[in-house]
Amino acid sequence: MTTVIKNGTIVTADLTYVADVLIENGVIAEIGKDLKGDEVLDATGCYVMPGGIDPHVHLEMPFMGTYSADDFESGTRAALAGGTTMVVDFCLPSPGQGLLDGLKMWDNKSTRAACDYSFHMAVTWWGEQVFNEMEIVVKERGINTFKHFMAYKGALMVNDDEMYASFKRCAELGAIPLVHAENGDVVAELSAQLLAAGNNGPEAHAYSRPPQVEGEATNRAIMIADMAGVPLYVVHTSCEESHEAIRRARMQGKRVWGEPLIQHLTLDESEYLNPDWDHSARRVMSPPFRNKQHQDSLWAGLQSGSLSVVATDHCAFTTDQKRFGVGDFTKIPNGTGGLEDRLPMLWTYGVSTGRLTPNEFVAVTSTNIAKILNVYPKKGAILVGADADIVVFDPEKEKTITAASQQSAIDYNVFEGKHVKGLPRYTLTRGMVAVMDGEMQAQSGHGKFVKRDPAGPVSRALSSWKELTAPRKVERSGIPASGV
Ligand code: URP
Ligand code: ZN
Ligand code: ZN
Ligand code: ZN
Repeated sequence: MTTVIKNGTIVTADLTYVADVLIENGVIAEIGKDLKGDEVLDATGCYVMPGGIDPHVHLEMPFMGTYSADDFESGTRAALAGGTTMVVDFCLPSPGQGLLDGLKMWDNKSTRAACDYSFHMAVTWWGEQVFNEMEIVVKERGINTFKHFMAYKGALMVNDDEMYASFKRCAELGAIPLVHAENGDVVAELSAQLLAAGNNGPEAHAYSRPPQVEGEATNRAIMIADMAGVPLYVVHTSCEESHEAIRRARMQGKRVWGEPLIQHLTLDESEYLNPDWDHSARRVMSPPFRNKQHQDSLWAGLQSGSLSVVATDHCAFTTDQKRFGVGDFTKIPNGTGGLEDRLPMLWTYGVSTGRLTPNEFVAVTSTNIAKILNVYPKKGAILVGADADIVVFDPEKEKTITAASQQSAIDYNVFEGKHVKGLPRYTLTRGMVAVMDGEMQAQSGHGKFVKRDPAGPVSRALSSWKELTAPRKVERSGIPASGV
């Protein structure tokens, strides 16, 4: 059985052209004019683009005394509904737990995924077992990225010595460290001060995490990565202070990538001042939403190339779960949803406004991250031989976002009421049509784990450069006798 996508305009990160796409056995078999197939998908008026890749999701994540409400089934359905065809979740061993043990849990959770997925491994503590198992994780399990939380003191947070040791191990293995960059010590102190002063509402969550805590941690992580000789990926970059550190590092030739979220690009800090407690608590995430100047900085980063990827950090909690924090904002589970809305929101607020070109849209939602994760062009490309993970995107199709019609399991949507123009007509996951003109046909269990090899081009180049420029002992001939 073959499928042909006809009459569309192919949009990739670097090209826009009219052609049909023929799909056979889940991969792109041919691109050209007047192609024929058993099944025909009409893409008249549409853009045929690589499916979105969301490199930052937390499905059924154990966190703050509960589990995030979307699991691999509802989460990947939401992804496909919005044109995203691959997600990367974070395997989070508890402090003291082995990495391979953690992976068993994540393997069990992910069996019902409807689209392809991969894992980052989190380093939440340091020891010989972690050092040893990192090699197995990379070489046998196909995971080439390791996440470090610089926040969540007393839970997931690692200190600088642990981070430096892990970054050096990443360098040896050709893996890339990721950081959640917030100064967890300062956040803990500010939170305690705010609570002591009676400031216990959701707005205090934002007050406890000002841009400085993010800027400081981003700078620190960049310097530690540079000393360890490894590239660095900074997740959920939300403010100018962090973006400025990334921009400066990149201009100095350091290999650093920044990832703004669609939430930070389109929602601002005024959400926390809403008189409705639930409204504000539902938007509690770390880092918090920022003001317009920070948003402008993030958009400028996408335009100029200093920021590379738009993700969601999809970590959805129900209103009931959010209410764990009534009377104490530090107990509100941190996280927001966005998987279904990332592409339509970025198209509406990015491409339709003229901030981004359609090709830049593809780059920041799919191709750039495929390259960073070292899965390009299997993913992130419309090329012969690539997986047929495709979104046929209709720029005229529109809707108003509402929780009532979403795939996510939670009871609200942080984008509720936003009008988007630009939606999938079809979403294909390895050739299977999962969204047919708005109708869901996703199949739980269709998704496969995507193995990712270490030592991608950037890691290899950086390790050559670090080797060439490493400090060397000066060989001397006439060494004087030691003075006694
Ligand atoms: O608030 C957030 N971002 N929750 C998910 C966990 C994380 O820090 O990424
Ligand atoms: Zn985080
Ligand atoms: Zn996250
Ligand atoms: Zn309209």
